[in-house]
Amino acid sequence: MEDKIRILLPEDEVDARVEEIGKQISADYAGKAVHLICILKGGVFFTCELAKRITVPVSLDFMCVSSYGAGTKSSGIVKIVKDLDEPLDGKHVLIVEDIIDSGRTLSYLTEVLKQRGPADIKICTLLDKPSRRVKKEVKVDYTCFSIPDEFVVGYGLDYDQKYRNLPYIGVVEV
Ligand code: IMP
Ligand code: MG
Repeated sequence: MEDKIRILLPEDEVDARVEEIGKQISADYAGKAVHLICILKGGVFFTCELAKRITVPVSLDFMCVSSYGAGTKSSGIVKIVKDLDEPLDGKHVLIVEDIIDSGRTLSYLTEVLKQRGPADIKICTLLDKPSRRVKKEVKVDYTCFSIPDEFVVGYGLDYDQKYRNLPYIGVVEV
């Protein structure tokens, strides 16, 4: 059965904004190398598009986390399903996420990664739902778009593992 998807952010708008954020990151990290940590699977499309637009040296690593909890309600307990391949000592780490909702995933993740001795850790997200934030201490350094509390898909984001490949951000109509 096909779901109806309403376009929230068209492809050209997302691309333009990713380019802008890429420029900003390149300027902020001038003279340094940035170590991008892609949060799988949702962050993978955004990470690739963003990395292509960063002009300082880039290295990449990947991490996969899942939050325990019944259904769609996140419990705040995060499990590392796939850990990074490389150490973080002295690196300028930039975590790249698809979306920040309650903030529980990133709150946990930044605490864990801080223990590994990076020079600094920043957060970059494609989307943010600020009205949903539970973990107020999560500071987001780069946000492409703040959106209302709607369930979105595309550009890496899924609904039951579907629609990650859509080139735009859409809302699944129920
Ligand atoms: P948080 O820990 O509550 O901030 O959850 C963030 C994670 O929830 C994201 O990385 C997504 O995997 C998922 N998520 C939250 N909102 C959406 C949405 O609207 N569409 C798809 N996934 C979402
Ligand atoms: Mg995710």
